[in-house]
Amino acid sequence: MAIGKHHTFNHAVADLVDNSIDAGAQCVLIRFVRSANRLLGLLIVDNGHGMGEEEIDNAMTLGGDREYATGSLGHFGMGLNAASLGQAKIFTVYSRITARQAVGRSASLANGNQDFECRIVAPEDAASILNTHWGVMETSSGTVVRWDHVRKFPIGEDAGRVTAFLAQTTTELRHHLGLVMHRLLEARQVNIWIDIFDADRNEAGPPVPVDFINPFAASPATRAIQRHSTLNSTVIDSVLSAISGPVARMSTATRFPGGTPLKWQGFYFYRHRRLLQAGGWNEIALDENDLQLARVEVDVSDELSEFLTMNPEKTGVIIGQKLVDAIRTTQTPDGWDWESFLNDARGMDRKSRKRSRDRAKAIPPGRGFTPRLKRAITSELTFISGEDPIDFRWDKIEDGAFFAVDREQRTVRLNRDYRRLVIGDSNGSLNDAPLVKTLLYLLVEKLFHGQFFGTRDKDNLDLWRELLTAAADEEQK
Ligand SMILES: Nc1ncnc2c1ncn2[C@@H]1O[C@H](COP(=O)(O)OP(=O)(O)OP(=O)(O)O)[C@@H](O)[C@H]1O
Ligand SMILES: [Mg+2]
Repeated sequence: MAIGKHHTFNHAVADLVDNSIDAGAQCVLIRFVRSANRLLGLLIVDNGHGMGEEEIDNAMTLGGDREYATGSLGHFGMGLNAASLGQAKIFTVYSRITARQAVGRSASLANGNQDFECRIVAPEDAASILNTHWGVMETSSGTVVRWDHVRKFPIGEDAGRVTAFLAQTTTELRHHLGLVMHRLLEARQVNIWIDIFDADRNEAGPPVPVDFINPFAASPATRAIQRHSTLNSTVIDSVLSAISGPVARMSTATRFPGGTPLKWQGFYFYRHRRLLQAGGWNEIALDENDLQLARVEVDVSDELSEFLTMNPEKTGVIIGQKLVDAIRTTQTPDGWDWESFLNDARGMDRKSRKRSRDRAKAIPPGRGFTPRLKRAITSELTFISGEDPIDFRWDKIEDGAFFAVDREQRTVRLNRDYRRLVIGDSNGSLNDAPLVKTLLYLLVEKLFHGQFFGTRDKDNLDLWRELLTAAADEEQK
C-alpha cells in the first residue's frame, strides 16, 4: 500500500485541519511535543463535535462509507489515514461527543507496510487525553489526533537541532495554513494555534496564532480587474465568466512569506472556502517573470467540478481539456480574452516593480507591530539588508516628550503617560497603537540610517518632538 507517500508534512497537517473544520471546530491546536533533546510527537486537537464508537471505526477505515454535508471539505474518505501514515509510523485518534464516553483507536502499518493494524485504546486513556488543559480550548467534545515516530522529525538527541527544526517547521506550517485556510481564518470561522509542549517540564509554550495570508488582499496598489462578461447559458460559459469575470483578480502587493515570487502567479482554486491550489498555470500559461502578479481566483463550484479534478492530496487541481480550450479561445463581447488578461498583468508588474525601485530602501519595523501590519509594511518597502529592525515600545520618558528616539537600542520609545490618550479604552498590548506607531515609523525611520545623527536629523527630531508633544497635550485637554 502506498497511501500517503505524496503528502508533504504541511499538506498532511492541513488535511487533518480540514477534518476538524468539517467537525465544526472553532478552535484547532497543533502541538509539537518535545523533551529537552528530542521531538516526540505531534498533536492535532480540535473542539469539534467528536466521534463515537461507530464513527471512529468508520473513520479508521479507508474510503469508509460516509455521507458528506454540503460544504464539507472531506471528499475521498482517506485523508485521515493517508495523511497520518504518510507522516507517522503510528497514529492515534482520541475523540468524544459531549457527555458520551471517550473513544480511541491507534493505527500503524505492519509487515513492511503491508498490513493496516488498528487497535482499541481504553476509554479511560482516551478520556484522560481529552481532559488535558490545552489553554486555548477545552475538549469536552472534540478530537485529538496524535502522530508518533514522525518521519520528518530529526532523529537522535540534539537539543539545538530540535529547536532549529521547530523554528523552521512551525514557521512554514503557519504560512502554509495561513494561506490555504485564509478565507476561513479571515471569516473567523476557525482559529488555529500552534504551540510547543515541553514534556520534561510538563508545560506548553505560548500558543502562536495562525494569521491569514490572503493572496488577493486589497492594498492601495491592488486593482481588481472586473470584466463583466455577458456570456451565459452553457456551463462552459459560466466557467469562463468565473475566470474572466469579477472573480479574476490580480494582486500587485501581496508578497508571501517564503517561496519564490515566480511561484505566486497562476490559479488559486478554492473549494468550500479552502484553497486547493496556490498558484501555477496548469499548463495554460508558463511561469514568467512579468506575470508574478497575475493571479486568478476561481471558486470550484459544483458546475465547475465537472471540468476539474482535484487530486486526493488536495494539493492541486487538474484542468480538463475542454476547459483549457475554452479558456484559450473564448472572447468576451468587448474583445477581452485570456491573452489580454496576461498582457494586462505583465504591464502592471512592470509598473509596480518600477515603483518599488524608485522608493528609498528602509529599515524594517521590529517589535511593537502586529504581524499583519508588518506584512503590509513589508509589501510596500524594500529593506536595507543587514540592518536590525526598529522596535517601538511604551516607556517612561524623562523629559516628558511624546516620544524619544534611542539609536543605540534601535528603539522608538513612546511616552506611557500618553498611552490612554492614544489607545482609549482598549486593552493595551505589545502591538497596540498601530496608527501612531506607523506614523512615527514613517517619520523617524530615516534617523536610524548611517552611523550618527546629522545636524539636520537632530533638528528634525527636535521639531517633531516639540510639535507632537504640544499636539498630544492639546488632545488631552
Ligand atoms: N477531527 C475529526 N472530528 C470528527 N470527525 C472526524 C475527524 N477526523 C475525521 N473524522 C471522521 O472521519 C472521517 C474520515 O476522515 P478522512 O479525512 O479520512 O476522510 P474525509 O474527510 O471523509 O475525506 P478526505 O479524504 O477528502 O479527507 C470523516 O468523514 C469524519 O467523519
Ligand atoms: Mg478529511
